[in-house]
Amino acid sequence: MATMVDIPAHVPADRVVDFDLFNPPGVEEDYFASWTSLLDGPGLVWTTANGGHWIAARGDVVRALWADAERLSSECLAVTPGLGDVMRFIPLQQDGAEHKAFRMPVMKGLASRFVVALEPKVQSVARELMEGLRPRGECEFVADFAEILPLNIFLSLIDVPREDRPALRKLGVQLTRPDGSMSVDELRQAADDYLWPFIQKRLAEPGDDLFSRILSEPVDGRAWTEDEARRMCRNLLFGGLDTVAAMIGMVALHLARHPDDQRLLRERLELIPDAADELMRRYPTVAVSRNAVTDVEIDGVTIRAGDLVYLPSVLHNLDPACFEVPEEVRFDRGLTPIRHTTMGVGVHRCVGAGLARMEVIMFLREWLGGMPEFTLAPGKAVAMKGGNVGACTSLPLVWNNQG
Ligand code: HEM
Repeated sequence: MATMVDIPAHVPADRVVDFDLFNPPGVEEDYFASWTSLLDGPGLVWTTANGGHWIAARGDVVRALWADAERLSSECLAVTPGLGDVMRFIPLQQDGAEHKAFRMPVMKGLASRFVVALEPKVQSVARELMEGLRPRGECEFVADFAEILPLNIFLSLIDVPREDRPALRKLGVQLTRPDGSMSVDELRQAADDYLWPFIQKRLAEPGDDLFSRILSEPVDGRAWTEDEARRMCRNLLFGGLDTVAAMIGMVALHLARHPDDQRLLRERLELIPDAADELMRRYPTVAVSRNAVTDVEIDGVTIRAGDLVYLPSVLHNLDPACFEVPEEVRFDRGLTPIRHTTMGVGVHRCVGAGLARMEVIMFLREWLGGMPEFTLAPGKAVAMKGGNVGACTSLPLVWNNQG
């Protein structure tokens, strides 16, 4: 809920806007258009909504501030009040040498050879879901597919047996589409309660799953404590579900609206990796926040030590000064995934980036290979939401199931 606040003296009047990131104007119809309205103004604005904070509103400013881990801290996770204190994510909420020490084992655990080895699992989860959907001729893509795929992959990563999985389904829904029935505290508690038996087991008897690999890597030459293990596992759970679900939802929405792109990718499967990179650039849904630890001069204004800055990757990836005709999806842009900011910039860049990219590629291969041409269901609305991770909340699709 947006709350109005006094505007601090160091904020010039021409930088003040009223922009509620949890509910930007028009977000239900189009998350991206609701944000890009800010590209018409200065590169850094101060919104009076949500307690008052800066928003980087131009591509070069978003990127420069995101890369500046010296002067901007990740510790607080502050736009959602209390979230950072409750979650205490490792490594997301760490800075400097401490962050480096914890990030290293997580990076090793998610190294590309393990990601490649996971492809058959992703394939079988996707195929199983599609088999159930195909004869129906229609689905609510978010609930029926986008939310389920990453959850099952995550559970495979930590080697949770299939019969234990339904318990996380409700939690998964609260993570991707919170309906207010669970507070942040309750959500954290439920995630910890669910994960803890598995973490304990992996700490005691490491297997060859992701958690075991990470937890058996020392941190600065010593073992992980139980508290640190919980905070890291929580970070992986909260970092790798709604983000992937949101991305897959946006990719499916694009294809439903662009049958030519569906046809092209069905005919030329070799284009899929480039298409995945371009779709991930075009539909970024994550924004992060930082607290300045010292004064930062940028775009003609001063961010004061302690100020909160919000960094939406959508305002980098869809800034025409950063990408030519950025709204257009062009599979031949020849981008490297680090040119866009969908997965972040610099020392905190997503440790799951390789896994997420693989999930999008596998989704494209499997869905386009196994399902007939699909469109949006006539007469039913697509809906989106804002927040730290924007997403489709409703994506009704139809196809001809007689073909
Ligand atoms: C399309 C899907 C994804 C998107 C868009 C995404 C986006 C991001 C972004 C923007 C950051 C940087 C945060 C910051 O700078 O404060 C980040 C960090 C992180 N992500 Fe992802 N992510 C995705 C998938 C995943 C997956 C699958 C996992 C793990 C299973 C994961 C785990 C993490 C972790 C642990 C961090 C913290 C890294 C650090 O602070 O050093 N993410 N992600």
